[in-house]
Amino acid sequence: MNRQEMHAQFGPKLRGTVPGPKAKAAVEADDRLISPSYTRSYPLVAKSGRGIRVEDVDGNQFLDFAAGIAVNSTGHCHPEVVAAIQKQAAELIHISGTDFYNLPLTDLADRLSAVAPMPGPHKFFYGNSGAEAVECALKLARYHTGRQNVIAFLGAFHGRTMGALSLTGSKPQQKRRFGPMLPGVTHVRYPYAYRGCTGGAQAEEAFSMGCARYIEEKLFKTILPPEEVAAIFVEPIQGEGGYVVAPDNFLRELRRICDRHGILLVVDEVQSGAGRTGKWWAIEHSGVQPDIVCMAKGIASGMPLGICMSRAEIMDWVPGSHASTFGGNPISIAAALATMDILEREGIATQRTWASGCWNACAAGRKHTRWWAMCADAA
Ligand SMILES: Cc1ncc(COP(=O)(O)O)c(C=O)c1O
Repeated sequence: MNRQEMHAQFGPKLRGTVPGPKAKAAVEADDRLISPSYTRSYPLVAKSGRGIRVEDVDGNQFLDFAAGIAVNSTGHCHPEVVAAIQKQAAELIHISGTDFYNLPLTDLADRLSAVAPMPGPHKFFYGNSGAEAVECALKLARYHTGRQNVIAFLGAFHGRTMGALSLTGSKPQQKRRFGPMLPGVTHVRYPYAYRGCTGGAQAEEAFSMGCARYIEEKLFKTILPPEEVAAIFVEPIQGEGGYVVAPDNFLRELRRICDRHGILLVVDEVQSGAGRTGKWWAIEHSGVQPDIVCMAKGIASGMPLGICMSRAEIMDWVPGSHASTFGGNPISIAAALATMDILEREGIATQRTWASGCWNACAAGRKHTRWWAMCADAA
């Protein structure tokens, strides 16, 4: 297919100047009414979406490579996801899993357990967002270990609620005037070998090992008693931090440090997970088995769902310790089950070779990998 044919088939198709009159009016209303804390870069006012296409209120069609910040894992309004949502909505919209049992909770847990990056048995907590999955992991790590401190990484993004924000180390504006943060969080360098320590590239193996070793050889010997550290939180691929793939030796070294000191290894797969790298979870590429996994975004194709999965023995808190009114909403779970069907059939199975190729290319070059992450979403 040549360029013109591709353009004719897939778009984009613009009807006039963008933004059009309806979009302009919508942006004006938004300016009046909606929180200015959102970071809108484009005056795109979405009305509908199908697959990779988004149509705005003036009938302009765009190709969506942003995928709702890595959420539209099956494209916009995949017919199977829509059907699953409609069916569940006609049956049961809400009953709080905090108070009552319902089958979707265990159906999805069983499915996720089967593709977990660490051996079972597992336990699951359902929330509504990535930040809630991280909050859960943070509280659980403290509860289970009886320790207060945690380690996170510079460049990390874990969410914007106070606990998750305290772990976040991405941009000053995200923290400006919101302090004090949660005490007990120490940020250390993430192995961004392409940028290195001083702005230049550094040899990856040695650099990433140095980043991990710093925890044991400096932190634990100076300011942070290891027996008081509950967890290390890490994104196997930093998203907001610049789409940086953590080298395998770094993740393996974190695992070793955690094992040695009784610390939990928490992987935040909110953005890197749900099939985005050709495997269910990005951590699987390293062979490292985490203790806790945080999931959200692409797992339910756009319905709000945050999930914290742990090795079963870790989730030992008692009734009343943690809960969520909406978490594990039956409609979100129906969307997640349909999403898993589609990703398994059309994504993980068929993209495995392709995505692994991209992965290997990234791993070999360790260049800035934003293109790869976006390709994976757009495919
Ligand atoms: C790695 C990671 N963790 C957590 C979050 C927070 O997710 P949410 O915005 O759903 O709270 C994000 C959001 O971008 C993320 O990329």
